[in-house]
Amino acid sequence: MRKPVMAGNWKMHKTAAETAAFFEKFAPLVAGADHAEIVICPPFVNLPAAVAAGGGIGIGAQDVFWLKEGAYTGEVSAPMLAAIGCRWVIIGHSERRQYFNETDETVLKKTVAALDAGLKPIVCVGERLEEREAGATETVLEAQFNAGIAELTGEQFARLVIAYEPVWAIGTGKTATPEIAQAAHHFLRREIRARFGPEAAGACRILYGGSVKPDNIKGLMAQPDIDGALVGGASLDAATFAAIVHYP
Ligand code: 13P
Repeated sequence: MRKPVMAGNWKMHKTAAETAAFFEKFAPLVAGADHAEIVICPPFVNLPAAVAAGGGIGIGAQDVFWLKEGAYTGEVSAPMLAAIGCRWVIIGHSERRQYFNETDETVLKKTVAALDAGLKPIVCVGERLEEREAGATETVLEAQFNAGIAELTGEQFARLVIAYEPVWAIGTGKTATPEIAQAAHHFLRREIRARFGPEAAGACRILYGGSVKPDNIKGLMAQPDIDGALVGGASLDAATFAAIVHYP
């Protein structure tokens, strides 16, 4: 049985005070919800506030650099994140690929660095609208998987989570239908099986991301290969994200 992961990606939202206020409301709403692992990923500067306020809720960063330290102005390393109590990290989000030149190669380097520091990576893949319309969804997912994930060892792979986020569904209100999402997740699980074997394929959590809301989460989670959600906008409000966490 794969334990679902319900993760909130706050992107560039909330101050430290707003972060503390969120957890004050959110923590009691999800107390005792042990059917899923709950993760919140605030901006870097608010990670300490989130760790302090988070109680048992997992805290993650939204990015990480691949080296431990050095002359890399503006970057934050995986050991630095681990040292403050951050346990997860999103890697290769489509917004980072689009605006910050993230590639499958940097995704791989960042994933290895995160694993070396004991962090749990949430590695994002997903096709853009023109790629889907050109019928290239599986080609894109396969290329992202091969270059960004397949190079890991089996031991490394066992410690990460994958998020399928079709770019056309992010922040647009256009969720992939459960069937469209399931088809992509099933394809990814087949890729995992071919590279890492049936046990790894059976154990890997594949999250769906893209306009997840309280009213569509149940249909998505009913799909056999969807093991959780990576939620953007709807994770900013405590009651709304709690409703998503409580989908069953
Ligand atoms: P939305 O839920 O706002 O569409 O964002 C999805 C996402 O990008 C999560 O990482």
